[in-house]
Amino acid sequence: MTDKSPVRGDKATVRVERVAHGGHCVARHEGRVLFVRHAIPGEVVDVVITGEGAKGRYLRADAVAVVEPSDDRVDPPCAHSGAGKCGGCDWQHVSLEAQRRMKSDVLREQLTRLGGIESINGVPLEESVRVEAVAGDIEGLSWRTRVRYAVDEDGSLGFRRSRSHRVQVIDSCPLVTDAVDSTDVTWRQWQGADEVTVVASSLGDRAVVIDPPGSVPSGAMPGLPEDVVLPGRRGRGWVREFAGGREWRVQADGFWQVHPGAADVLVDAVREALAPRPGEHLLDLYSGVGLFAGCLAADLGPEGRVDAVEFSVLACGDARRNLHDLPQVRIHAAPVESWLAASAAAGPEGVTSVDIVVLDPPRNGAGAGVLDRVMALTPRAVAYVACDPASLGRDIGHMAGAGWTVGSVRGFDLFPMTSHLETVALLLPPR
Ligand SMILES: C[S@@+](CC[C@H](N)C(=O)[O-])C[C@H]1O[C@@H](n2cnc3c(N)ncnc32)[C@H](O)[C@@H]1O
Repeated sequence: MTDKSPVRGDKATVRVERVAHGGHCVARHEGRVLFVRHAIPGEVVDVVITGEGAKGRYLRADAVAVVEPSDDRVDPPCAHSGAGKCGGCDWQHVSLEAQRRMKSDVLREQLTRLGGIESINGVPLEESVRVEAVAGDIEGLSWRTRVRYAVDEDGSLGFRRSRSHRVQVIDSCPLVTDAVDSTDVTWRQWQGADEVTVVASSLGDRAVVIDPPGSVPSGAMPGLPEDVVLPGRRGRGWVREFAGGREWRVQADGFWQVHPGAADVLVDAVREALAPRPGEHLLDLYSGVGLFAGCLAADLGPEGRVDAVEFSVLACGDARRNLHDLPQVRIHAAPVESWLAASAAAGPEGVTSVDIVVLDPPRNGAGAGVLDRVMALTPRAVAYVACDPASLGRDIGHMAGAGWTVGSVRGFDLFPMTSHLETVALLLPPR
């Protein structure tokens, strides 16, 4: 070890150890931990230090040359992928099979490290938890039905570089569907806008959303194919989706799963985990346009009851319209935290107990306050849908502290070529 700690711009040659959360792999150099992008466990790579992590506890680095490649290394399908380039994909240099192995490793590690979970029903996580491919996946490409492009100072579209505000201008992205690509937005100039979002729905609707609204003057608006709506300027503000055997209305810039196979696979996984029974009472928290509420209402039947809670007024409006044929569903436009608190304070007038719960929070998870109130409703099962395994691990750890156990965990590769994954976990109360 030298007397000088490595700093930004320094070069080194390191052996890459395990994969870590966030698309990095761990390596060590001069006594410091490195979080290395663009590498694969087992490889020897030349790295350049790119910065320091929180409180100086670790360094960040990019692999810039491969000395000993892994058998899992492949040529990236996109020319924009790699160190210093587009920050959209973490793992284009990794075979799809190995990407899923690495995601499985990350999921297990977060469950153990943050959730304290070593096994499920006595089966070690190595055997009981893995990340699955989803139906309709085409070699991990052409799956993005919703894409948010950044706009550079010249009005060109692209994606931000890793940990940077700089935009990597792109012509086309192999992750987007043909329907997104053929809007040709990347060939046009969007001077004035910060972001341009393109949506191509499962029922063939296409929309382009400009942020901030009105930032591109009408005279400078690029021409777009006739069918593409521009909410606020041309056509309606929502698109139609199809999932779970039902049609859904979703605001063009509202939440809907991005991978074409996602909504169905998640509904099936949640249904399998909860095994809803006729007459039961379901609480669907963070319910969006009502996907889980609407699909599971059929299992509960007319004697059942669903309370769906979502804070976006527009999403609740879509949910009411989507579920108008299901009188057993009540939509509540409120933050989950305050709705649960108000319901508890209302005593017998509020919701005092439920049978089953779907929790599908945003990236930072549900958190202790919401989980405590959910557990107080004494459900027989909770299905937790998570897009961040770290938040899931933390929230499972909190419930485990109250005696809850994990009944099953399934990971889904809904974001191929990136390090992201979706998980459905079944949580069961103490007996
Ligand atoms: C991951 S999405 C899930 C939506 C829906 N379950 C689905 O699958 O389509 C999370 C949803 O939670 C909503 N949300 C985020 N924070 C919230 C909060 N504190 N209270 C209520 N809703 C919230 C968002 O608007 C978004 O619709």
